[in-house]
Amino acid sequence: MNDKKWRMAYSQERAVQYDDFIKAGAGPVHEQMLGSVAEALELTFQDRSLRILDMGTGTGSVAARILENHPNAKITCLDGSPDMLDQARKRLGADLRCDFVQRDFGEPSWWNGLGSFDAIVSVGAIHHLDAKGKEALFSKIHRQLRPGGLFLCADPLSGEHAFFDRLYEDAWVKMIQRNLYSSGREKADPEEIRRYIRKTQEAEGDQPSPLIHQLKWLSAAGFEEVECYWKSFGFAVFGGRKR
Ligand SMILES: C[S@@+](CC[C@H](N)C(=O)[O-])C[C@H]1O[C@@H](n2cnc3c(N)ncnc32)[C@H](O)[C@@H]1O
Repeated sequence: MNDKKWRMAYSQERAVQYDDFIKAGAGPVHEQMLGSVAEALELTFQDRSLRILDMGTGTGSVAARILENHPNAKITCLDGSPDMLDQARKRLGADLRCDFVQRDFGEPSWWNGLGSFDAIVSVGAIHHLDAKGKEALFSKIHRQLRPGGLFLCADPLSGEHAFFDRLYEDAWVKMIQRNLYSSGREKADPEEIRRYIRKTQEAEGDQPSPLIHQLKWLSAAGFEEVECYWKSFGFAVFGGRKR
């Protein structure tokens, strides 16, 4: 089943190499997504102490980045992969502001015992669910946010038309090419990069959805202020606020 391929992909081997893997495959975009998430939280909540959930925390780089802007925050770092969570513990385990939970947010009872949050964020994780899974998840997240709470999702997108799928892929190929070039590697063959992107997406069971669909699902889930905060071709940071 596609929804569970990420479990195989985020094994120990990937976990120990993940920070280099993301740098090579999406470095500049990943940095911008982390910055946009941290800044949107700061602009919304200023220096309030927050309880935050980071879904699909991976190696903890999102939580670490948020804590730079929000030193008073407490962050629950949640991931379904024990190996990724081990890496997050290595990065943040000594930080008393963080706790770690192994859960699969595609399972029906994943929320049990977690409580409520001021903000829920997720970078590069929710696109592993299919359309129905995302829609159901947004409703669940809305229910669990405190009034005034903010949900932010940073994820790859599919295009609403095949034309945009190709455009987004072309832009991704170019980004990797520039990355390789700036790290001193010779200009790589774009078709080889394209095959690498497709192979990785297939292995991880990626199921990105169009931005416009996801904004509609957020509104249907009850979010009143829904917005795209940042977008570059097939990557976006979007979310909604609960009144
Ligand atoms: C691409 S990594 C992103 C990690 C981190 N958020 C970052 O931006 O560096 C995706 C992470 O989401 C986790 N993940 C994917 N689907 C999940 C699910 N249904 N439940 C829990 N974790 C999930 C994977 O194990 C992996 O650690």
